Amino acid sequence: STMESFLRELPKCEHHVHLEGTLEPELLFKLASRNNVKLPKGYPKTVEELSYRYEHFKDLQDFLDLYYVGMSVLQKEQDFEDLAWEYLNRAHSEGLEHVECFFDPQGHTERGIGMDVVIHGFRNALTRAEKELGISTKLIMCLLKHLPVANSLQTMKDFKPYYQKGWIHGLGLDSTEIGNLPEKFTECYKYGRENYPEGSLYTSHAGEEGGPEYVEQALKYLKVSRIDHGIHSVEDPVIMKTLAERDILLTVCPLSNKRLQVVDDVSEEPIRELLESGVPFSINSDDPAYFGGYILDNYLAVQNAFNLSVENWITIARNSVRCSVIDDSRKKDLY
Ligand code: ADE
Ligand code: ZN
Repeated sequence: STMESFLRELPKCEHHVHLEGTLEPELLFKLASRNNVKLPKGYPKTVEELSYRYEHFKDLQDFLDLYYVGMSVLQKEQDFEDLAWEYLNRAHSEGLEHVECFFDPQGHTERGIGMDVVIHGFRNALTRAEKELGISTKLIMCLLKHLPVANSLQTMKDFKPYYQKGWIHGLGLDSTEIGNLPEKFTECYKYGRENYPEGSLYTSHAGEEGGPEYVEQALKYLKVSRIDHGIHSVEDPVIMKTLAERDILLTVCPLSNKRLQVVDDVSEEPIRELLESGVPFSINSDDPAYFGGYILDNYLAVQNAFNLSVENWITIARNSVRCSVIDDSRKKDLY
């Protein structure tokens, strides 16, 4: 349809994609065999079995349990490069112009993988995408909420040199939400503000499975300028007002929410409420290999559910560019 080609052509920015979540079953099994990684007992044995498993997550934790095992096939610098390069190519073919992508350093360092292996691998793919595909890129490191704070603080200290080199541009917080309130990580964000370069981005997953109190805490204790997911903010009009006034971007992930049973259907996403209250948001894929769609599929799912106008889409696309961490000349290119 004309709307579909309009959305395909629309210059898109992605602010919420975990590079480890772009690990397609085909590449996962290929790397397992290349690296002689033995997957645990009970883990799906074929691409078909694994794909089937991805279509039946009970909730966030059920996904995370599989996601952390999946990343164990990533061992060498080339593996991290291949992973990110496949994602960047695919997203580029769907009209991706700018990406701020997450990675989970503790998901690798806890398994004994060197920091340089992870960073150099990702960086090779990102710099290649800038040169060959014309995509602008930023890398954001996420701390895992289910691990002890001391582990996260040590990780922040260990990765500080990469921030200083300009190879990592922001800090995020992901993994298990329920039971891990943002307040727990106050010290980490304070460390970042005192030790990482000026202009680094601070964001956090909040209000995905958790209620608006998680969003409120992320703003209050972590002083984030962006919220990943954040869809449960709509339950609290005071928070909605704060988000609009402070121009806090929500990085919404429709197909993720559906697969993790946060919503029964994409039509339950608070798209109209966000548009009407002036809270900026972008549309993102989260873990596209696991959730059945890359960035364009997420745009199309929203369009199928809401039948938005071209004017609505221009608002969404402009907010997505405006709230990106890129300089004004690049923003002008993308408007
Ligand atoms: N890690 C990867 N994807 C995530 C999500 N949707 N929520 C929390 N942690 C994650
Ligand atoms: Zn996420």
